[in-house]
Amino acid sequence: MLRRIWTLSNLFLLCDLVKAVPVEQIPLQDSQLQTSRQQSRLHGRFLHISDLHPDPHFKYHSSVAEEEACHRGRGPAGYYGAETTSCDSPFSLINETFRWLDENIKDSVDFVLWTGDSARHDNDELLPRNDAEIKELNEYCVNMFLQVFGDKGILTTPVVPTWGNNDVLPHNIFYPGPNRWTRAFLDIWQPFIPESQRHGFEYGGWFWTEVIPDRLAVLSINSMYFAENNAAVDGCADRTEPGYAQFEWLRIQLALLRKRGMKAIIMGHQAPARTESKSSWDETCWQKYTLWLHQYRDIVVGTVWGHMNIDHFILQDFRDVTIDSISGRTLGDRAAMDDKLTTQGLTDYLTELRELWHDLPSAPKNLGTASKKKKDKFYKEIGGHYGERYSLSLVSPSLVPNYYPTLRIVEYNISGLDSNSAQEKDLGDTPSPYLNSAISEKSFKIPNSPSKSAPPGPAYSPQTFTWLKYAQYYANLTISNNDFTTSGWKEGKHKNEEPASNPQPNPKKLTFEVEYDTADDKVYSMKDLTILSHLKLAETIGQYKSKTGVPEELDGNKRGKKKKKKKHKKKGKRKKHINRVWHAFVRRAFVGAIDDAQLEDQFGGLSLFEE
Ligand SMILES: *[C@@H]1O[C@H](CO)[C@@H](O)[C@H](O)[C@H]1NC(C)=O
Ligand SMILES: *[C@@H]1O[C@H](CO)[C@@H](O)[C@H](O)[C@H]1NC(C)=O
Ligand SMILES: *[C@@H]1O[C@H](CO)[C@@H](O)[C@H](O)[C@H]1NC(C)=O
Repeated sequence: MLRRIWTLSNLFLLCDLVKAVPVEQIPLQDSQLQTSRQQSRLHGRFLHISDLHPDPHFKYHSSVAEEEACHRGRGPAGYYGAETTSCDSPFSLINETFRWLDENIKDSVDFVLWTGDSARHDNDELLPRNDAEIKELNEYCVNMFLQVFGDKGILTTPVVPTWGNNDVLPHNIFYPGPNRWTRAFLDIWQPFIPESQRHGFEYGGWFWTEVIPDRLAVLSINSMYFAENNAAVDGCADRTEPGYAQFEWLRIQLALLRKRGMKAIIMGHQAPARTESKSSWDETCWQKYTLWLHQYRDIVVGTVWGHMNIDHFILQDFRDVTIDSISGRTLGDRAAMDDKLTTQGLTDYLTELRELWHDLPSAPKNLGTASKKKKDKFYKEIGGHYGERYSLSLVSPSLVPNYYPTLRIVEYNISGLDSNSAQEKDLGDTPSPYLNSAISEKSFKIPNSPSKSAPPGPAYSPQTFTWLKYAQYYANLTISNNDFTTSGWKEGKHKNEEPASNPQPNPKKLTFEVEYDTADDKVYSMKDLTILSHLKLAETIGQYKSKTGVPEELDGNKRGKKKKKKKHKKKGKRKKHINRVWHAFVRRAFVGAIDDAQLEDQFGGLSLFEE
């Protein structure tokens, strides 16, 4: 059956009913640290840290079995945590991570984005969580941030927190505010929430703050109001829903930032993951988000997320926005993504991502010298020279060692941000032409587009605030825990073992090292982190040959595989390169903690492993 193609982008052409949407007059926001930071030098770097999951019940050398969850019994749980398991983080890991940040990072970052889940999971029937514990664990994390990124309890480097689905009880369930959680966190996050944002925060758990006064704001979203598995709310189409209100808030704030000539980062916990069969957000929220990011593509420099624990990125395609689904007239048929994805679930998810990327427009060979006709066709497909058909979500893996504990340092362009550089002027905007009866003010206001004269935003074309690269750091717990160094910890194999020769833990100092750095990485070889660079990477990851529409590795019997393998050999260099990129992508998804043999099991033959 044909899919409905009545997209909003079509409506651009169809309607000329233009009506200005005034920017609401809102008092200007005070910045978190206006006075203390105005003079300080920028480094062009920020830290993204996610999913700390401190667990006060964690015991080293306890059992990693599901019923024991590193809380009791005897087993291989290490001093700094049990890598490659579902156990949460011991305080030793949290403490040592902040010690490492203190010694290595704190003086070289401009701000910190902390994307939620700062309490343990509810994963032990014998030790159910309670409100007090969740708050205490969050307070513990707040204090660590204050110690490292502050001075005598006052922040000196902005830190921006956001809710995780495990920061409330019961997990995933977040009621419209004000509620006991928004009230509690108003207090717990007091050092981070600007005075002028406190009212809005109590209402919905969202806020924004200026991490570079008058230039760059971070909008912290309450992603639980978008989450498909939050049974207390119902999407973003209905005016009475907090998800609807959050988009109104986002629209108004982004319009205000545009007016002030500022740029914005959006952050949240649960990423807008959406593949053929599964989605983590309600479809109406995903639709609005994709539309909003398109309309504010001159403002939003990037978005960061956590929750999924695997390192990857997501592209939102503006052409997927349709009138019917944005207004909730047709419901998506995707299933809610499980809160805790199993290995199989993750494998399916990454494979589906790859299948999506398989269909991305591909650039003609040697784009620079290709014929004008070919070039034009390609640029038309991707929404112009900068790929403005798409927006990007970067998902960082977690500190909790589901694989290895990990952190990300993103570098961005600060040229033109010297103290005496002039503030960018308001470029204005263009009312959206698609206010027709199908989707009128009765339903919701469509954000204005960038001004026709505005240059493409920093997410699209290299300029001030463009994200240039990131370095993914990880701590090899197998080395630091120092329990299984002779045998080498192959994931899962120790689940019935005990470090018998070592009744006392004998840990080494915890240290983070670079897993990969997008700037000097030979496999990804990314010039920067723009949409175009990610489109190219995704398109390369998505390359495979298939008659059935699924990647060849998962396709068919052994004989078929063998035949195909031979073909690759003949094809030579190019094919090998393609395989390496997908291989690197899945290996990095799991922070290098899963060995190739298991990856091969998970993802099928992969045909990635030929040298
Ligand atoms: C972690 O740090 C806290 C506060 O500094 C301290 O009280 C606690 O004993 C430390 N715990 C571990 C396991 O290092
Ligand atoms: C950084 O931004 C400036 C403009 O502000 C631009 O000229 C320069 O090319 C950018 N640098 C990179 C590496 O993209
Ligand atoms: C971590 O350390 C172990 C033990 O030395 C080693 O076998 C493994 O390859 C290391 N993993 C990574 C990703 O560095």
